[in-house]
Amino acid sequence: MPTSLSHSQELSQRATTGFERAFGYPALLSVRAPGRVNVIGEHVDYNGGWVLPAAIERYLIMAVRPRKDGVVRLASDSQAGLEEFPLTAMARRDSRNWDRYVRGVMVGLEGAGYPLVGFDAFVVSSIPVGGGLSSSAALEAATGLALLALGAGKMDRLQLARLCQRAEHTYAGVPCGLMDQAAVLCCEENHLLYLDCSTETYVQTPFRLFGWSLLIINSGVAHELASGEYAKRRAACEAVAKIFKVKSLRELQSTDIDYSSLDDLSRRCVRHVVTENERTRGVVQALASGDVATAGRLLNESHASLRDDYRVSCPELDLIAATAQRQEGVAGCRMTGGGFGGSAVALVHTAAIKTATAAIAAAFAAQYGRIPSSFVTRPVAGATVNPDFREIAS
Ligand code: GLA
Repeated sequence: MPTSLSHSQELSQRATTGFERAFGYPALLSVRAPGRVNVIGEHVDYNGGWVLPAAIERYLIMAVRPRKDGVVRLASDSQAGLEEFPLTAMARRDSRNWDRYVRGVMVGLEGAGYPLVGFDAFVVSSIPVGGGLSSSAALEAATGLALLALGAGKMDRLQLARLCQRAEHTYAGVPCGLMDQAAVLCCEENHLLYLDCSTETYVQTPFRLFGWSLLIINSGVAHELASGEYAKRRAACEAVAKIFKVKSLRELQSTDIDYSSLDDLSRRCVRHVVTENERTRGVVQALASGDVATAGRLLNESHASLRDDYRVSCPELDLIAATAQRQEGVAGCRMTGGGFGGSAVALVHTAAIKTATAAIAAAFAAQYGRIPSSFVTRPVAGATVNPDFREIAS
């Protein structure tokens, strides 16, 4: 056994020992699925736009073993007890617990003609739930890859991402776009996933800004995407697309729009989406030429647009972004993910991480009486089956 375990190895070990404790025998394999941070391109995936997420060094690990009796048993180290159901009852939709994500993926796989077996699964995760870092997409992806590895067959990663997205729609009630599931499944180490959500094709974009890192600051305000605000924004965008007779807002440029025909909500939504698409393309260009200052400015503008036009930020995220943006060595900072809480992401020079983090913590503590958790990440690889399981188990 290695003397010093990496974060992911330590989690793997917790998953394997947790599995044995819960079920009384060892797991057969494990899947490691990362969370994601979106660098820019927010609330545009369901508008056919361009997004730029990275997989992060926070993981969900699912250890599994097949069963011969057609029963599914799910356990985790964050909740007591087991969820247990036969394959014949997997489609039930009344659960409010995390088994609904697993069920959604199982139903999708079976519907696509993949044969399923019963299984035991034990889950551990370091992706904060409600942190806007795609803990649910990681669970969906892990479930999909685990079931495929247990014998269901092979599936293209983007196809699996779409299946997981449908699980989120039907089993969690969130009409999300494709970004989170695609990021968790398709990201490559040291790259951002430049995904065109209209053609559903992507380019792996190198993240090689020497000396610069991604700092993630979690506001600790649990976001609730299913609460209806997310769906409301999506519906408003779709209504505007109809007015302009386009398939999605991605087809519009700023100059195409006669804002006078729109009500306030529609005007703000369309302005955010159209300008965010322009900003995302701008960040890709800036990163390609190493222009950190421009990339950072666009991140700041993205935050302002999400706060003022799309209105999906919250005071805690605004405080984090504004404080970070003022710090020496911070190129830019914005909220990331669906919003209404969750996390912010900052592009920070490595030498400034300590001082920037301390300044954000101090400003936040002065206002809210607590310190937001934060961590630095580099872009890591998407979900993998059995990354270091055998090594640790031996
Ligand atoms: C959530 C959704 C994504 C995306 C983001 C906002 O994370 O799951 O599909 O819409 O919000 O960019």
